[in-house]
Amino acid sequence: MEERGYEISVPEEDEPDKSSSVFYNEDMKTNRDLSIIAARVFLEEVDIEEPRICDALAASGIRGFRYSELGNVYLNDTNPEAIESIEKGLEVNGIKAEVYNEDANVFLSQHRNYLHIIDIDPFGPFTSFLDSTARAASHSSFVGLTATDNAAPAGTYSKVCRRRYASMPLKNSFMHETGLRIYIKAVFENFARFDKEFDPKVCWHEQHYSRVMGRVTESKQRTNNALDKIGYLSFCPKCRWRKLERAGNCPECDSETRVAGPLWTGKIADQRFTSRMLEEMPEDWEDSLELLEHIDSEAEIVTPFYDLHELASVMDIEVPKRDLVIEAIDGKGYPVSRTHFSPTGFRTDAPIEDVKEIIRKHT
Ligand SMILES: C[S@@+](CC[C@H](N)C(=O)[O-])C[C@H]1O[C@@H](n2cnc3c(N)ncnc32)[C@H](O)[C@@H]1O
Repeated sequence: MEERGYEISVPEEDEPDKSSSVFYNEDMKTNRDLSIIAARVFLEEVDIEEPRICDALAASGIRGFRYSELGNVYLNDTNPEAIESIEKGLEVNGIKAEVYNEDANVFLSQHRNYLHIIDIDPFGPFTSFLDSTARAASHSSFVGLTATDNAAPAGTYSKVCRRRYASMPLKNSFMHETGLRIYIKAVFENFARFDKEFDPKVCWHEQHYSRVMGRVTESKQRTNNALDKIGYLSFCPKCRWRKLERAGNCPECDSETRVAGPLWTGKIADQRFTSRMLEEMPEDWEDSLELLEHIDSEAEIVTPFYDLHELASVMDIEVPKRDLVIEAIDGKGYPVSRTHFSPTGFRTDAPIEDVKEIIRKHT
């Protein structure tokens, strides 16, 4: 098998999962594409002579092979068969790397304040690797974490979410955004305990996973300044009003609101950073480019996204064309964009009454 010009030596499988002898999932190519480009942009912004880059749960090693374009690579996995695949892959691709067969927590804890880029890409949640990742992150570094336990912070298993993330989720049309914000909060708070600020640069949700990537800076002051971005989200199940704050009754229809959190209430991407990523992304990485364009276009708007079909159904009207609605909201001078979370969604900071009036006019 090959990915973006690198050969991978693993047994071919229709549906790779936890039980695979060595795990390689082609569907995660987008995750790897965006991760490599984000790391490249970070390294262009900092002055690090020989960056040390680690995939602590490396499996086939493909992510690390791709990171090797950017610096010295450290690949680790507990599975001895993965180590064999990694070593074969390094040889056929002519790459040099340090390879370790340790528990990721042991490996990371033995490399305190040492690594400039850390990638954590486990089966399920990343929570058990958070402490060791914060220990291993250098005073100025970049960290990416994947989570595939999305049903918990998206509200299907609210007790799992409370137990694992100490947050109350909310199951509704924008549950994956709430889930992503709960993940970011977990990462931010964990780094904060080590006096390191985690600043989200590009975070997204697609398919069955969420990804949180951001810059880490050792600074009590910066961490203190960002603490206020941990808060709550309120949602009115009757009129669908939503806001990233803790509200009593709905300010639009006076119904009782539902509250999720604590979670990250700041931006989930930094447009200055994502626009640099767009410049670096090859044009023929089409799916990844499309995803990144959506993330970039919505980066500056913080109100949780709306689902057009849901609003039309609540208003008991036909669903208008999404692009006409977006154009009309834009025409009124409000920030508005599509959203990467859903093909039927859009994101705007416009008041919900204005949004509904526009939708009514365009049915
Ligand atoms: C989802 S795969 C990683 C995929 C890889 N990063 C990629 O991009 O293709 C998860 C890997 O973590 C390894 N793993 C699970 N628990 C681990 C632990 N505690 N320490 C190190 N590796 C572990 C598994 O053997 C498996 O190879």
